[in-house]
Amino acid sequence: MIPYEIAKVLRSITYPDSDVERMVYRARAVADGVVLEGKPELFRLLVDTVAAESNFELNRRCRKRLDDASAAVVDALNRAQANAQLLGGPTGSIRLRDATPDDLEGVLTLWRIADVEPTHTDDVECLTRLLDRDRFALLIAEADGQIVGTVICGWDGWRGSIYRLAVAPTHRRTGVARTLVAAGEDRLRSFGAVRLAAVVTETSPAAFGFWTAAGWERQSNRARFVKG
Ligand SMILES: CC(C)(COP(=O)(O)OP(=O)(O)OC[C@H]1O[C@@H](n2cnc3c(N)ncnc32)[C@H](O)[C@@H]1OP(=O)(O)O)[C@@H](O)C(=O)NCCC(=O)NCCS
Repeated sequence: MIPYEIAKVLRSITYPDSDVERMVYRARAVADGVVLEGKPELFRLLVDTVAAESNFELNRRCRKRLDDASAAVVDALNRAQANAQLLGGPTGSIRLRDATPDDLEGVLTLWRIADVEPTHTDDVECLTRLLDRDRFALLIAEADGQIVGTVICGWDGWRGSIYRLAVAPTHRRTGVARTLVAAGEDRLRSFGAVRLAAVVTETSPAAFGFWTAAGWERQSNRARFVKG
């Protein structure tokens, strides 16, 4: 659900993707606003289109209207996802949603609790940069309002990359990682990613057990070179 004035801004834009255009024009007016209905990937395309429009807009006031519209769509989507029960079964009380800037401290806390291998990019500044670059890159699993799992799904237009899969010790072996990775894979594939890669801690039997069980293959003839 988005406010009427935001829906009006969205309708002022030309969309290269016909499904997104259809979603915007088929939005239903209800008592408190306008309901947009569509798959999460259409919302991503919508936000990207509004952001591109804003980048080309020279008038400062118009640019602000576009930025506000894009922020309102992201907020609405996050609220909808938080309210949606995604799966039944053992992870029945787990909800998946996109992380927002308000979640970042909680995400760092989870990484400490989950004992993921620390890196010098584990801070709010770096995570904020990630979300600024791609608002849909950090997926979190929540149980009773607590962050109990994370995964970063990066799409650079060439490969889909998965990082920072972590689950709180209290919620392990209940399918949280499987759920997060499945959702991340769906998301990356919906953007067009054909080949996916995950950076996996070599010394972690849990990580190896997980990726093997999830049907991923270890690549034996490649090494990872890093800088920075
Ligand atoms: C690895 C990790 C993410 C797995 O999370 P999880 O939510 O417990 O995993 P799931 O419940 O979805 O497990 C799915 C399957 O993976 C395999 N698996 C998970 N944990 C395992 C372990 N400790 N040892 C062996 N296999 C394991 C099992 O086959 C499991 O299915 P099963 O429980 O029906 O046997 C979690 O242990 C963790 O956060 N570890 C610390 C951080 C880390 O190593 N992250 C990975 C970096 S690449």
